[in-house]
Amino acid sequence: MSERILVAVAWPYANGSIHLGQVAGCYLPADIFARYHRLRGSEVLMVSGSDAHGTPVTLTAEKRRVSPEDVFEEYQAEFLDNWKRLGIGFDLFTTTHTDNHVEASQDMFLTLYEKGYIRKGTMFQPYCETDGRFLADRYVEGTCPHCGFEEARGDQCDSCGRTLDTQELIGMVCKLCGGAPVIRETEHFFLRLSAFEERLLDWVRAQDHWRPNVRNFSIGYLEGGLHDRAITRDIDWGVPVPLDGYESKRIYVWFEAVIGYLSASKEAGLLSGDGERWRDFWQSDCRAYYFMGKDNIPFHTVIWPAMLMGYGGLNLPYDVPANEFLNLEGLQFSTSRDWAVWLPDYLDRYDPDPLRYVLAANMPETSDSDFSWREYVRSNNDELVATYGNLVHRVLTMLARNFGGRVPEAGGLGREDVELLEYARRSFGEAGEALEGCRFRAALQSAMSLAREANRYLERQAPWRSVGEDRGRSARTLRVALSVVNCLKTLMYPFTPFSSERLHRMLGFTGDIGEQGWGWDWEDIPSGRSLPPPSPLFAKLDEAVIEQEAERIGQQG
Ligand code: MF3
Ligand code: ZN
Repeated sequence: MSERILVAVAWPYANGSIHLGQVAGCYLPADIFARYHRLRGSEVLMVSGSDAHGTPVTLTAEKRRVSPEDVFEEYQAEFLDNWKRLGIGFDLFTTTHTDNHVEASQDMFLTLYEKGYIRKGTMFQPYCETDGRFLADRYVEGTCPHCGFEEARGDQCDSCGRTLDTQELIGMVCKLCGGAPVIRETEHFFLRLSAFEERLLDWVRAQDHWRPNVRNFSIGYLEGGLHDRAITRDIDWGVPVPLDGYESKRIYVWFEAVIGYLSASKEAGLLSGDGERWRDFWQSDCRAYYFMGKDNIPFHTVIWPAMLMGYGGLNLPYDVPANEFLNLEGLQFSTSRDWAVWLPDYLDRYDPDPLRYVLAANMPETSDSDFSWREYVRSNNDELVATYGNLVHRVLTMLARNFGGRVPEAGGLGREDVELLEYARRSFGEAGEALEGCRFRAALQSAMSLAREANRYLERQAPWRSVGEDRGRSARTLRVALSVVNCLKTLMYPFTPFSSERLHRMLGFTGDIGEQGWGWDWEDIPSGRSLPPPSPLFAKLDEAVIEQEAERIGQQG
């Protein structure tokens, strides 16, 4: 049965390159999930885009003395290039700086306003007399009232992850001049979150299929009580407030960015020539999965659902498989200290699949995890090259050498052959179940344990020895092993799509790998087929990479 799946991925701020923490946090898991579902024949829509507005982008623009347009356009182009090179297959990666998005955001704003879920109010905001302006969100820094972290920003504390209102910060300073701001009264619009507290709690409590960390965090957040939140700012970059008299204000970046999931779905439909298609994903049977890092959880399990409830008639998230954090060589990624591996830099020097593999194998699904270059080289060499790549290479080269590259008849299967094929069938089922439940590490483990099992089988059967004595037996072993290689091609495709595409061709298939779907039968490759000459799937990395790369970290800031 074909299902509809919306894969909604957090929108990166268009003010800097993507680093590996973000790849492991949401882009890779979202892509793995989407690839799996496309193979299964689900109707998938995977969307995201550049988060182009708000103070992250204007601050960067001011620092560089260029316009916010210049900043977001530069990164939009870079992101698109990076997704292509890493194989992150968005159906649409747009930006929040489109007329379509502005329209959807203003419609949401006005509808909630007319329904009484948005109200006007006044609030006190930091104002810098030196710079002559209000200091929204990231324009101030101070101590977090919750955890005492001294470099908390006006919108969020990076240490404890709590979202903040600017005026809560202790000992604020202006990011532009370093001075102490004064406090001034200003008029804003507020989202009446308090009106949704009960409904949200009932809804979140009922989500038994959510990851415990996501569900518990959200329940705790809701039990702490919801306050109405200001959803406009005194800045001039962003979506205009669609009411007269507020020309100097813009809609708060977080309020409009989450609307991007909806506006991008509409844009994707329009681009494919069907302006009504978004309704399939938002107004009928469809499961919406939202991928993000844990610092984004409350926006997707509380604020966005409240907006959807208030607007009415749109699907709530089905799952929010947020990841914990990936660390780098034991320390938190930090943009300001350049403690990061930047994706464009990685892609300039290495292949995409080994990165996808190591990040999936160490994905921070249930607790923080770590990326290190030592582990990167080790898993490339020991697992991709020595286990999976070697299995493929041994089978294909023996077939080329001893059977002229023709897939032999298996003849009658022996007990060990049947056992291996059974193992493959089980792995296939296990991996599918794990992928279905967004347990990506487990799915990858199932695939790799099948590769190890197949290598042990080859060692025992030793077809290189039997080829001289018992050609039939050698043919059978290679035929069975070839089937397992074909199985691995599909199992590994969500994780390492570039090598699966290549393997698909080396196994003599001509069409798109997607056409074969998420399924496997040991006789999928017909006997008698001639296979093209094989070449290695993965390349060994020199140990020197570990040192070289360790030295590069922190050198590009
Ligand atoms: N730009 C935000 C960040 O990088 C994420 C926004 S997700 C969205 O943390 F849905 F709101 F767009
Ligand atoms: Zn804090």
